[in-house]
Amino acid sequence: MAEIQALSASTPEEVEQIRIKYLSKKGAISLLMNDFRSIPADMKREVGQKLNELKNAANDRLAELRENLASNAEAAKADIDLTRTATRFPMGSRHPLSIVKNDIFQIFGAMGFTIAEGPEIEDDWHVFSSLNFPPDHPARDMQDTFFISRSPQDILLRTHTSSVQTRTMESQKPPIRIICPGRVYRNEAISARAHCFFHQVEGLYIDRNVSFADLKQCLLYFAREMFGPETKIRLRPSYFPFTEPSAEMDISCHICGGKGCAFCKGTGWVEILGCGMVDPNVLEACGIDSKEFSGYAFGMGIERITNLKYRVKDLRMFSENDVRFLHEFDAAR
Ligand code: DAH
Repeated sequence: MAEIQALSASTPEEVEQIRIKYLSKKGAISLLMNDFRSIPADMKREVGQKLNELKNAANDRLAELRENLASNAEAAKADIDLTRTATRFPMGSRHPLSIVKNDIFQIFGAMGFTIAEGPEIEDDWHVFSSLNFPPDHPARDMQDTFFISRSPQDILLRTHTSSVQTRTMESQKPPIRIICPGRVYRNEAISARAHCFFHQVEGLYIDRNVSFADLKQCLLYFAREMFGPETKIRLRPSYFPFTEPSAEMDISCHICGGKGCAFCKGTGWVEILGCGMVDPNVLEACGIDSKEFSGYAFGMGIERITNLKYRVKDLRMFSENDVRFLHEFDAAR
């Protein structure tokens, strides 16, 4: 009996062999059945019962082996991995700011820009002094900048990624062609239109004979790649301490195509970034000869570009981690 219960088989052929061995006409159990006739009458009842039990056990075990083989075959067919966890992990999606940041990387990457990064906790030199900020510039005020310590040296959270310009120029020789993505901090009240942190991408190109025309062409290419081939750009004179001349760049409103709508407040243009030719004082402060080299720089807010592209109405949504909002971008990448 124990022998029968221990029987095992891994193929249908092995099951059949077991059947032949025990239950076919010449099988062990059938032979025992044949001998049954010659057993004394007073033992027939007991032996008959035992023989029947044996036969049933063999039939049951064969059925069991067949069933095991069949369910294994089915699992193999369905390619079921029985070692996998039963818990489902919902798929995440890329954050909208990462989607747009990657688009920006790709566009400038195609023009030969490489990525440079720097620390978020900075000092006065890299964020302000090296970039030609006058000592009384309002950005240095407590109203705007989060200071960590005031002495012996001002340590602060960077208010822009332009600090990475300085770090790169201090450590590399021209030609330099970089974009610098990163988080920046400003002491602003949090609302739908402002936050105490946001993200920027800074661009810097330094070489011999770099001109404003190079800057304009580079930014036109960027605008067309990002917002569509019909996009026009417009440069308005502006002021930044680290560039001279400086400009703000607008793109033709991609919602009305430049005719004027509520989005562009009827002007047909929307502002997207600041730019200019790197001020010679900045080059000199970073150890680059301003007589030999010139360059351009630009800086943009990734939230701003994302808002224009996807029309996100409230800046706070970018950092609330509401999956209903995040899943709206599943299809974007
Ligand atoms: N750093 C500027 C800001 O945070 C943005 C900017 C403007 C960067 C013009 C530049 C530039 O490199 O040339 O507002």
